[in-house]
Amino acid sequence: MISLKNIKKYFHKGSVNEVFALNDINLEIGEGEFVTVIGSNGAGKSTLLNCIAGSFLPDSGSITINNCDVTAWPEYKRAKFISRVFQDPLLGTCPSATIQQNMALAIRRGMSRGLAPGVKTKDKPFFREQLKHLGLGLEDRVMDIVGLLSGGQRQALTMLMATMVRPEVLLLDEHIAALDPKTANQILSLTRDIVAEQNLTTLMITHNMKHAIAFGSRLIMLHQGRIILDVRGEEKMQLTVKDLLAQFYRSQGEELANDSLLLG
Ligand SMILES: Nc1ncnc2c1ncn2[C@@H]1O[C@H](COP(=O)(O)OP(=O)(O)O)[C@@H](O)[C@H]1O
Ligand SMILES: [Mg+2]
Repeated sequence: MISLKNIKKYFHKGSVNEVFALNDINLEIGEGEFVTVIGSNGAGKSTLLNCIAGSFLPDSGSITINNCDVTAWPEYKRAKFISRVFQDPLLGTCPSATIQQNMALAIRRGMSRGLAPGVKTKDKPFFREQLKHLGLGLEDRVMDIVGLLSGGQRQALTMLMATMVRPEVLLLDEHIAALDPKTANQILSLTRDIVAEQNLTTLMITHNMKHAIAFGSRLIMLHQGRIILDVRGEEKMQLTVKDLLAQFYRSQGEELANDSLLLG
């Protein structure tokens, strides 16, 4: 379970460039909940995930994960609980190492870091079996250098590596945005399967409103650092892209209304 209480995050506080990226976020995400996150550019989506992951500390508020207060924990310490996948397929893997060397690294998540690990013979069948699940034929290429893989193959491997040791929290920041539509759909199905199989507590940022509706058990919309929509269950299933667009324009309209108040 993730609990965010009164989270505020400024960038460039006190300067002319001041941005109030998270404006008093309160959010409770239950064990196994799969939350899709939408909002316009600059709404604070990545900042929200970065705050949970500990990429930086919030200016105020508290964060607990499974009842453990991690507010002051640095990113590397939270990495025991949290796996992340980003838009850029290059970020999740080591390009100069082989597929099985990458997997050997992933399986050590949360353990003490020693020298670069060798691939243990006893782990090899497990790696092959995991790769087979992807349906991309990578199980026959375990000795290939990851840098040779396509973006989609690499992102599939990244998803696998992020979840080989079950994380308490899975954070996906537009992880299919850089892929062609067909590959994006494959990675999305893979995501759905992995999240369901392991009952992972997940936040997935997407720009695709259809995906935001079709995937996950809950949907939140951010605008100017605030949560302006939070729906789940039946209500979420009834949502349409039109509803979301209407909500979106309403939020923009409020902005205009505020401006006109100011000008008036
Ligand atoms: N590291 C940073 N330094 C300065 N400003 C930042 C930083 N990260 C995000 N911001 C600003 O915070 C706001 C929210 O950004 P972000 O969370 O990346 O938006 P989103 O992911 O919803 O597009 C934006 O105005 C952005 O410019
Ligand atoms: Mg972002």
